[in-house]
Amino acid sequence: MFQIIDGKKIAAQIKEEVKSEAEHLRKQGKEICLAVIQVGEDPASSVYVRNKQKACEYVGIQSVLKKLPENISEEELLATIEEMNHDCGINGILVQLPLPRHIDEDKVIKAVHPDKDVDGFHPENVGRLCIGEKGFLPCTPAGIVKLLKYSGIEIDGKECVIVGRSNIVGKPMALLLLRENGTVTIAHSHTKGLKEITKRADILIVAMGKPLFITADYVKEGAAVIDVGIHRKEDGHLCGDVDFASVKEKVSYLTPVPGGVGPMTIAMLMQNCVAASE
Ligand code: GUN
Repeated sequence: MFQIIDGKKIAAQIKEEVKSEAEHLRKQGKEICLAVIQVGEDPASSVYVRNKQKACEYVGIQSVLKKLPENISEEELLATIEEMNHDCGINGILVQLPLPRHIDEDKVIKAVHPDKDVDGFHPENVGRLCIGEKGFLPCTPAGIVKLLKYSGIEIDGKECVIVGRSNIVGKPMALLLLRENGTVTIAHSHTKGLKEITKRADILIVAMGKPLFITADYVKEGAAVIDVGIHRKEDGHLCGDVDFASVKEKVSYLTPVPGGVGPMTIAMLMQNCVAASE
């Protein structure tokens, strides 16, 4: 029998905690404010941004949305961020990714002041994570560690395999699991013999961006599998990188899509906003 890891429920608990912390801070006269920058009208980004704003409203964090046109110049975007860096009324700044191709994403990430970097993407925060110093943790990997802990899944000494090496998920995920004393392997698109590697995992984190790629023959009996992927199928339904129907027969724990990792990313963002105000 496998257990569904209910990200929606765990995220709701975390948001309640954040809500009371925000209320406590408000009573001391401290308002928390998140600035979200969206460049262009990418429909998926619009959904993510709306969900982040809804979460802010729920927990009692102010949010300001700065919508900028698709053809905005890099200089203008950097100037907007710089203005927000100096605005004492703004605690956290989030630039929704991806950005249009004419804008250098790395430059934009570096432009956000590390103390307002609630995404945890700035090289200073990445470096802090790398050497175990306190800093903003990237929301998706931090949310995954919470999911594992809330579900009572031990990481210490466990064989952890991550499929995907992005700066947003794969790499910080590896560092966080290492910090929890996991034995960590990162596999990626050039990895040979992927199946043999993923089958070693007690904890398998899949962030490869390929719909339904991981089937039962990629997983070990009794493993915990976390699916970071999200895709819209032709029939309109959502699915992950993991073939839920086949994998659930073999594992002990599995996250659904939707309702697994996604809500946790937003809950961790709310936590980071509180931390940014302190
Ligand atoms: N695009 C996809 N995921 C994220 C995220 O966590 N933060 C930002 N800023 N953009 C994203």
